[in-house]
Amino acid sequence: MTKKIGIGLLGLGTVGTGVANIVNSPEGRHPLVSSIHLAKIAVKSLQKPRAITLDSKILTNDPLEVINDPNVQVVVEVMGGIEPARSLILRAIEAGKSVVTANKSVIARHGEEIAKEANKAGVYVLIEAAVGGGIPIIEPLKQSLGGNRISKVTGIINGTTNYILSQMSRGGANYQDVLKEAQQLGYAEADPTADVEGHDAADKIAILSGLAFGGAIERTKIPTKGISNLKILDIEYAQKLGYEIKLLAIAENLDISQAKDSSLSVALRVEPTLVPIEHPLSGVNGVNNAILIEGDPIGEVMFYGPGAGSGPTASAVVADILNIAGVKLMSENKNSLDPLLSAFRWRNCELADPRQIPQKNYVRLITVDSAGVIGQIGNVFGKENVSIQSIVQYDSIESEAEIIIITHNVTRGQIRDSLDKIKELNEVTKVATHLSCL
Ligand code: HSE
Repeated sequence: MTKKIGIGLLGLGTVGTGVANIVNSPEGRHPLVSSIHLAKIAVKSLQKPRAITLDSKILTNDPLEVINDPNVQVVVEVMGGIEPARSLILRAIEAGKSVVTANKSVIARHGEEIAKEANKAGVYVLIEAAVGGGIPIIEPLKQSLGGNRISKVTGIINGTTNYILSQMSRGGANYQDVLKEAQQLGYAEADPTADVEGHDAADKIAILSGLAFGGAIERTKIPTKGISNLKILDIEYAQKLGYEIKLLAIAENLDISQAKDSSLSVALRVEPTLVPIEHPLSGVNGVNNAILIEGDPIGEVMFYGPGAGSGPTASAVVADILNIAGVKLMSENKNSLDPLLSAFRWRNCELADPRQIPQKNYVRLITVDSAGVIGQIGNVFGKENVSIQSIVQYDSIESEAEIIIITHNVTRGQIRDSLDKIKELNEVTKVATHLSCL
């Protein structure tokens, strides 16, 4: 019988337990699952009661014992957080072990360093579970769509915020109430900052952008706006105009026509965005994720499914383990990497000046309700070359009016300059909301 490939887990939380459950019940799965076994698992506490029965001899509270165990050939990092996860991944690579990780924070910030070390050591680092939970999106971008010129990646890649926005949109409840309910149901963390402020989605779009455009970008420079200030009123106005509001993460190739090999100008952002109801992303609700890829010659392709959770994330982790196990079983020489599974040949990707990014816009203004106001607003937009798609006065409360404007595509610089001027008009009380539109 062929010797089994030994797996070392760093972490036995939600995802780690999901992985252990799959590895320990190979029946009915792909035959390769029978060729792997859990050799060692690092846990925080050896005493903690667990939902899974495991041989206590394979548990340790020293992660280095996992990495250095001669029976461990693939190290699976599912502990989360930046440190010590980053250092342990690097230690595993140094020890000549391939790594599978679900850690988007580490890969978004230190992916290049890790890929460089992995290539030097001749090992794999696979990251399917880092974005979109159970949705296969990393390997499709790396392999299946490899022949395309990718122009845009648009994702709903945070389940917590998508759940909150779906509830707000369906039930008319405000953000704070829905967040509280999501926390009670376990869909939002006690400290929801990383999700609701868009940081989690920014980590994930940084990773997708790297794969789509073949080069890393500086994670900390991604313009990021969350949903914590979003008003139910804007969701309602958006619906009246035929849109849903979603937290979108977008990566766009602004150099598409020039198609340079050596460098690209890319535009990335995470922000609440109006999505037309006929757009495929507008119907993605609850904790689900979806990623729409636009490329030439594929056109549009959308990946949809459960973006988090024990089972879905473990499904992605085990797929990566099997890829490595397959290569290891096929080849005695650990240094002959399958180039499609490993990361190499990066190009230089520069983040474009945010003022140059083209977009449609939704603007809600509070103004006095008198003759000529809409004319004045139109005048400012006209002078800044901002073309208006629609302008509607919805309500007037006493002497105040609420005016909603949707613009055609203009640069972010143009819209910002226009709004700065509109704010100065005597008749305008305030620019209450400005959001992007697809
Ligand atoms: N917190 C993430 C989400 C799941 O809400 O989508 C893990 O990436």
